[in-house]
Amino acid sequence: MTTKIIEITADETLPIRHQVMWPNKPFDYVKLDNDNEGLHFGLYLDKELISVISLFIMDSEAQFRKFATLENYQGKGYGSILLNEIIHIADKQSLKRIWCNARRNKSQFYRKFGMEATNNIFIKGGLDYVIMERIF
Ligand SMILES: CC(C)(COP(=O)(O)OP(=O)(O)OC[C@H]1O[C@@H](n2cnc3c(N)ncnc32)[C@H](O)[C@@H]1OP(=O)(O)O)[C@@H](O)C(=O)NCCC(=O)NCCS
Repeated sequence: MTTKIIEITADETLPIRHQVMWPNKPFDYVKLDNDNEGLHFGLYLDKELISVISLFIMDSEAQFRKFATLENYQGKGYGSILLNEIIHIADKQSLKRIWCNARRNKSQFYRKFGMEATNNIFIKGGLDYVIMERIF
């Protein structure tokens, strides 16, 4: 099995975003208004797209959003490979920081990537979130 990370289109991220994150909402719920301004990356396991993430760069900061791995492939290290690559890409661009709105039950996971929780917490769609960041 070989893994490969490549840039993909926003449309290519949608099936995984929908299936993994919001399967009970309409398909269009996982589209972002500014998807066309983002960079989208996918991790392929052989020929199958199994993990996606989207990166939005603005004002010397990068936000990643809609990070998802197909359920059957979660917990095997693929998401970590993808997130490390995205952090590396952001770091290379001399940005000040990378941040995300993390589901609070994922905050321990993001700490492994040098990200720290901020005081900024909120609830959306019935889920608890915390803004997490890594300053470069
Ligand atoms: C968050 C998400 C994208 C991570 O992707 P993933 O491919 O499962 O990520 P990894 O496999 O690299 O890491 C997941 C866990 O498995 C662990 N892990 C990694 N490699 C492993 C391995 N070889 N064997 C066992 N466990 C492993 C990681 O340490 C991590 O543990 P933690 O969650 O307790 O911190 C995925 O869980 C997902 O799609 N979740 C649903 C959507 C979601 O919540 N998105 C994020 C919103 S903030």
